[in-house]
This record gives sequence, C-alpha cells and structure tokens, in this order.
Amino acid sequence: MSSRAVTIVVPTYEEAENIPELVAGIERVAHANALDIELLLCDDNSQDGTRDVVEALNRPWVRLITRTVDRGLSAAVIEGLRNASNDLLVVMDADLSHPPEAIPRMLDQLDQGFDFVIGSRYIEGGSTDADWGLFRWINSKVATFLARPFTSIKDPMSGFFAIKRPTFEHASELNPIGYKVGLELIVKCGCGSIAEVPIHFTDRRFGESKLNLKEQLKYLRHLRRLAIYKYPGWSNFLQFAVVGASGTVVNLIVLTALVAISVSDRIALAGGIGVSFLSNFVLNRRFTFSYARKDSIVGHFFGFLAASALGLVTNYSVALIFRENFAEVPIQIAAMVGIIAGMGLNYLMSRYLVFGNRARG
Ligand code: GDD
Ligand code: MN
Repeated sequence: MSSRAVTIVVPTYEEAENIPELVAGIERVAHANALDIELLLCDDNSQDGTRDVVEALNRPWVRLITRTVDRGLSAAVIEGLRNASNDLLVVMDADLSHPPEAIPRMLDQLDQGFDFVIGSRYIEGGSTDADWGLFRWINSKVATFLARPFTSIKDPMSGFFAIKRPTFEHASELNPIGYKVGLELIVKCGCGSIAEVPIHFTDRRFGESKLNLKEQLKYLRHLRRLAIYKYPGWSNFLQFAVVGASGTVVNLIVLTALVAISVSDRIALAGGIGVSFLSNFVLNRRFTFSYARKDSIVGHFFGFLAASALGLVTNYSVALIFRENFAEVPIQIAAMVGIIAGMGLNYLMSRYLVFGNRARG
C-alpha cells in the first residue's frame, strides 16, 4: 500500500505541555496506517516554552509556524491550511481532545468523495467526557442549533475536520472570526457532501480552554456574516426578525423586573414596550441597516418612531385591555398578546392600506 501524504494543522496557544503527547499520538497513527505526515503547529507566539519543546522533539515532519499578527484560532488555522504541502488536510486541537486514531477513517471518507469530513461528538458512536457540566452542554447545543440555517450536520462546532486542498482553495472571502473555523469552511467552500465520523471528545488535562464569553459573542457576529454571505437578499429581513425576537425578550424581562419592584401594571407594560422599542432601534440601526450608520441618528430615531407609532399604541392598548379583563393571567401573557396585536396591525395596514385591499388571484 502506498502511503498517503497528509498535512495536519494544529492551532496552538500555550500548549507546550500537550505537544509531546500530541506528536507521539500522531506518530503512532502514522506508522500504523502508512501515513506520511506534515504537522504544522500554528502558534500565536506563546511564551510557555512551546518553541523549546518543539525543538527538543527534533522531528523533521513537525514545523512550528510562529504568528505575531492577527491573533486567533481561526486565523491560525487558515494560515496553516494555506501553508500545507499536501493535498489531504486535517485540522485538530492540540489539547488531546481529538483522538488522532480517527484520522485514517476521516481520510477514507475524503477518498469516498465527501467534500468535508468532521469528527463528530453527536452522532451514533460519538461522545464527550462524562463530566461535561450542564452549562457547557446547553451552550454547545444552542450554538449548534444557531448554525442550522447553514448546515444540518450534527456537530458543526467541532474543531476536528478533514478537507481536500482543492475544496479549501475553492473558498471565497474567508473571514474567520472566533472559533468556528469548520463552519466557516463548510459555508464558504461550498461543501455539499459532508461526512461525520464519530469521535470521543476527551477533556483537556493540561492548561485551560481559551473559549471564553468574548469568543462566544464573536460567534454571533460570525453567524451574522455567514447569513449575509449565504442569504444576501434575505439578510436584512432576517436580522430585522432576529432583532424583533430579541425585543420581545427585552420587553418581558423589563416588564418582569418592573412588576417585581411593584410598579403599577400600566407603567410596567409601558416600560417593557418603551425599552424594547429603544433596543430594537439601536440594534436595527447598528446591525440590520448598518449600511446607513453614518446618517443622523436623530432623523433615524424619529423616522423609526413614526413607522412604529401605531403598532406601539396598539401593542400597549391591547396589552392593557387584556390585562384589565384577564387579571388572573400572568401579565407577561398580556404583554405577548399586545406584541402580537401590534405586529398584526402592521401587517393589516400594509395589506389593506399600503398595498391595496383587493385580493388578486
Ligand atoms: N494559534 C492560536 N491562537 N490557537 C488558539 C487560540 C489562539 O488565539 N485559541 C485557542 N487556540 C488553540 C488551542 O491551543 C487548542 O489547540 C485549540 O485552539 C482549541 O482551543 P481550546 O481552548 O482547547 O478550545 P475548546 O476546547 O474550548 O474548544 C474546542 O472544542 C469546541 C467544541 O466543543 C475547539 O475545537 C472549538 O473549535 C470547538 O468548537
Ligand atoms: Mn480544548
């Protein structure tokens, strides 16, 4: 059997303690499966002795790429992929979370003609270490759910994947922010066929995860960019809808807080509507219609107020009437009924006043 030449790209930041075992694991798999490996460690200039560790290993097939600009996991991965000498490309973490034993099976799937192969925790046979807390689990599931408009695979968040170089080079406008470089490639390389290979995801033993809240917020920005890329005609509407949904949440939170400090129902309902109106305005100006951000905010504000006025009044009146007639129902329900009424009014006005009242076949 002739050996397969593979480039493995590993982003690293302060992983000196993990590198020897990572290299040993990959070496074992390479020997057992006749793989000819180039390992690119794409390091963001860690000051933990990474360089010494790599030099001491003295493996000619292991190369350290030290990066000093444009820090970040995704940027490091993209740089590694661009520097790869082989046509078969694998990306994995340094912290021994990803089992190198899965690599041959992933390469087999590339041979079968799949564009992209992901090491998956969430398909039959895949798993995570048992002590994953509930919070981490929910977090991962929510992030996966948010990626659904872009891919239906079970574990698009995985940082363990394989791709062929021509597919990677097909990518247009790579713009990686944050952690989800796999998702970025799936969308931008136009990967049609994706295979998932089950893996067991082991918790890191040394060092700590760099996936913090800031990175999670970057994921939302990343999703927005992917939406603009993939659904250019729909992206404004989509963002408007997401902002609207966030407004509903803001409304209910403010309402609940005001009720908790026992202000009157009228003021609580008005407060929820008022604050969510403001947050909708700010978010729509900042995101949905960001192309107009340079224009006057005062003009925008009154324009948005005028466009929303009747809906707001309807929202408030209906919520209040509902509240007065169904006092035993939680006030949040009254607020929701008001929101739906406001939306319904906007729809009816558009349909009958703006776009004519005759139904045409
Ligand atoms: N070059 C570079 N620069 N590498 C980085 C950086 C950075 O700023 N931040 C993290 N890395 C490297 C780490 O050294 C590690 O090898 C790998 O990227 C993953 O980082 P972790 O900090 O271990 O991430 P995680 O375990 O929380 O997240 C992993 O699992 C997630 C799914 O649960 C990653 O694979 C994520 O991409 C994945 O979504
Ligand atoms: Mn990790």
